[in-house]
Amino acid sequence: MSQNKKPGKGDDLEKFLAAPDEVVLNPAEKRKLQARKAEDAARQAREAFGKSSQEPSIEDMLGDVVRVAEDEETNPYAKFRSISPRRYELYGHYPVQCIYDQWGTFVGAKRAAGLAPEIGTTTRRRARAKKAALEHTGRYVTRHMMPHVGKYIGWDRTAGGRHIALSISDTHATFLSPVVWDCYLQACAEILQAGDTALLNGDILNAAVLSSHQQGRRGDVSFEVEVDFVETQIGQLRAVLAPGVRIMYGLGNHEDMVSRYLANTAREIARLPSMRFDRLLGIDEHDVDLFFGGSFQSPPGQEREKPRRLLYGAMLATHGTKLRKGKSAAQELDTYGCSGTSGHTHRADIAWGGNWKQQNLSWMSTPMGCSAEVAHDYIRDHEGWQQGFGMSIIEGDNVWHHPAIVFDGVCHFGGMRFEARTGADAPRDVMTNWLAEEAR
Ligand SMILES: [Fe+2]
Ligand SMILES: [Fe+2]
Repeated sequence: MSQNKKPGKGDDLEKFLAAPDEVVLNPAEKRKLQARKAEDAARQAREAFGKSSQEPSIEDMLGDVVRVAEDEETNPYAKFRSISPRRYELYGHYPVQCIYDQWGTFVGAKRAAGLAPEIGTTTRRRARAKKAALEHTGRYVTRHMMPHVGKYIGWDRTAGGRHIALSISDTHATFLSPVVWDCYLQACAEILQAGDTALLNGDILNAAVLSSHQQGRRGDVSFEVEVDFVETQIGQLRAVLAPGVRIMYGLGNHEDMVSRYLANTAREIARLPSMRFDRLLGIDEHDVDLFFGGSFQSPPGQEREKPRRLLYGAMLATHGTKLRKGKSAAQELDTYGCSGTSGHTHRADIAWGGNWKQQNLSWMSTPMGCSAEVAHDYIRDHEGWQQGFGMSIIEGDNVWHHPAIVFDGVCHFGGMRFEARTGADAPRDVMTNWLAEEAR
């Protein structure tokens, strides 16, 4: 019999119907069932023997529940005033059914008797526990986290040994995307502090007019306009940087076209000091650190160097040579075996060291800084190119890379949002130094 249900006439029939067919239809099994039921009924009768036949009052029942709960002879948990329905069924003066008839559930009787917390008490305790957990978290944050959080707010980096490089590559002279450039300038002004680096990582010139490739419809931008354009570009960058921020400019394959052209067509003037990149680009006044190694046009002392530079002892900056879609960063990391950044592929990508020794190493391929229009001069298919730049944070031996991608004139990264200023995404005439024209 269910404890929530009074015994009734239909009980036997119900029990019989509840038995499965294989029991009901099998005489031997049916006899076992009846024997078990009879035994259970006898147990209930035994236990009911001696129970008061008087109708108990509410206080009678509550007093009896408390008595059973505190009875040291029958309850090993008496000091905890713990009681279950079964314990009351065994040791109570009244049938347990009286309890169910009055309170519906046994825990209802326990609450009324003060042996279980009231519903309101439970709710209050839960609320208090939640508040205590919040207070604990608050104390933890105040004590252990807040002293460190302030160091990073607003890029206010007071501790030494931590540097940031904002890299842009593949701007391809007059094909520069005004949107990307505007976002890059804003990021440089906002983020970089003394000792940090604004990195121009190759293909800042386009030099298509000097290329041995087939000339495209835009290929006739004069080299003079391009040099003028890059000078203007670097001047704009220097103007937004905080004092003490370095500008570094590395050689890309498009800068290299200049050397190859001169070597092939104008050997007699190629070695003139005025033909060196540092002179040619006329950027001394902007305090630019060129790493244009390995060319006869290289700045003094770099002629035999490689066109790359290790920044802050942990991150290699180089224009890159790998182009395989989705694999270029991994290939560059594999080639150099150290953390670094490159461009060239016009696609954003990050690769991580794939073995135990290299697991803290990473390589970022920065997206292009130019508009897709540049592709008309070189290739037909340029699906999957991204525009933007990249941020690398270098601390000790470790490097954290964050690509900054520009979509529809908006750039999000590092919790910041940059938007090109009004009109910056209007199409430009790549045949002119539009940067200089706009500055007027
Ligand atoms: Fe490029
Ligand atoms: Fe390139």
